[in-house]
Amino acid sequence: MDFDSLSGELRRLRDDALAAVAGASDEAALDQVAIRFLGRKGELTAVLRGIGTLPADDRPRVGAVANEVRVAVETALAGRGAALRSEARAARLAAEGVDVTTPGRTIGRGSLHPIPETVAAIAEVFGQFGFVVYEGPEVEDDLTNFQMLNIPPDHPSRDLWDTLYVDVEGRLLRTHTSPGQIRVMEQARPPIRALLPGRCFRYEAVDASHGFEFFQVEGLMVDEGTTMADLRGLLDEFAHALFGRERATRFRPGYYPFTEPSVAFDVQCVVCGGSGCPACSRTGWMTILGAGMVHPVVLQYGGIDPERYQGFAFGMGVERIANLRHAVGDLRLYLEDDLRFLEQFR
Ligand code: DAH
Repeated sequence: MDFDSLSGELRRLRDDALAAVAGASDEAALDQVAIRFLGRKGELTAVLRGIGTLPADDRPRVGAVANEVRVAVETALAGRGAALRSEARAARLAAEGVDVTTPGRTIGRGSLHPIPETVAAIAEVFGQFGFVVYEGPEVEDDLTNFQMLNIPPDHPSRDLWDTLYVDVEGRLLRTHTSPGQIRVMEQARPPIRALLPGRCFRYEAVDASHGFEFFQVEGLMVDEGTTMADLRGLLDEFAHALFGRERATRFRPGYYPFTEPSVAFDVQCVVCGGSGCPACSRTGWMTILGAGMVHPVVLQYGGIDPERYQGFAFGMGVERIANLRHAVGDLRLYLEDDLRFLEQFR
């Protein structure tokens, strides 16, 4: 072996290695090229084994050539490696790419159910007069639902409420929100201005205008010098806010055991405006709530001195108000969760 042939071999090795580096199509292939040419048992090592057969003077010169070859191959490996990595990244990014110009799927926007929406509208009006929302329990006792409202056991007025009993101890599903009056008086002192929305239950045959499950909003005001005129003025404001300023209202005599006197509060028919139509049974009027001056006995049960304080109360069916606001003719629709119905209130 002499210097020329050994350095010629090194140059050929370099050309082979550079060609192999250029031809490596991925990082794994490139690793194989590095091992094949520069590895401990690689071709460069094999060629350099011949160095021992050279005259001592030639050895450093061959060493210098071998170093140049190693550096050239290493530089090529590094360059190709970087190129392959950025190619691989570009390919991955292209595959993961998101087309931000694709139109998105629309997310349906919900809306309040007409019953809570109507409760909110009612609470908004009375809220302007200082009424605060309270809530009573749905499972009541006979005492609070009836007796403390001046409805003794076996009193014929119980026929007004077809009651669902929960047990034989007298627990029942409240038949109206009026027991909330007692619950408020038990925890608050006059002046009281309370609004009590809630779900009520009656043992009823269900039809378009009766549900065994329905909502009411109760109102209670107790203060010194409270009169029927205050009640009338407040209810007028309420009717005007919900059904229009120009709409006439009236009180009719009514009967409830817990109010004396008791009235029915009517508004001019919201369908025909008062001329008479099927919606108002041709009377021109629609009854929207019951009301009256709180019976002194009820105030007493609530721990309030009827000699000093007077109160008025009113109670309305939310479905009926919602029907009038939204021209709905059948209250069963409110509980059926039919999206075709509910979507109309968006
Ligand atoms: N609780 C009565 C009912 O369910 C409605 C009612 C009438 C409530 C007169 C009142 C009232 O507060 O004063 O039919």
